[in-house]
Amino acid sequence: MTITHPASATGVHGFELASKDPAVLRAAFGRFPSGIAALSAVIDGVPTGLVATSFSVGVSFDPPIVLFSVQNSSTTWPVLRSAASIGASVLGKDHAAVCAQLASRTGDRFAGLDTIATDTGSLFIGGSSLLLDCEILSETPAGDHHIILLQVTAIKVEADMDPLVYHGAAFRQLVPNYEI
Ligand SMILES: Cc1cc2nc3c(=O)[nH]c(=O)nc-3n(C[C@H](O)[C@H](O)[C@H](O)COP(=O)(O)O)c2cc1C
Repeated sequence: MTITHPASATGVHGFELASKDPAVLRAAFGRFPSGIAALSAVIDGVPTGLVATSFSVGVSFDPPIVLFSVQNSSTTWPVLRSAASIGASVLGKDHAAVCAQLASRTGDRFAGLDTIATDTGSLFIGGSSLLLDCEILSETPAGDHHIILLQVTAIKVEADMDPLVYHGAAFRQLVPNYEI
């Protein structure tokens, strides 16, 4: 069976109107597993950053482009976007508490964290599974968010470190899918 238009599915086959209940939407989008990236830079000497599960790679390979979407209400992005370059750290499997700290609304998000800063001000989180040095390419309005395209200028792969996974409002770790 092919569904050609979302409106035609509403009320039948168990579909609900996507815009009806934000909690339904949040729970539905939470079924999509994702990695988590910390987007960080040192701005006027102050470590600045946020975490994003909307982060995605492989938008383009030539040039290499990644993206994330940021809430229009973010108080950090208006500051972070002034950075000459931004460090995107794909958080590692042991970073659940670090992620919660980096998303906190109060206190120093970087207190006690193992960080690496570059000459251009990009800031990376130690223990991450992938580090991407990035420059902002574009900012496009998308509903209550903006989509930020980042061009990747340098890469460091930490092959021995598995990424942290976010799914169903919980942090998870990858489990090998053994063949039987
Ligand atoms: C697991 C997780 C994923 C998040 N993903 C995003 C995201 O993709 N985009 C976003 O704007 N904020 C996201 N946030 C919220 C931000 O990290 C941050 O808390 C928010 O921007 C509010 O802080 P601010 O006003 O300093 O920006 C996420 C938070 C958590 C805990």
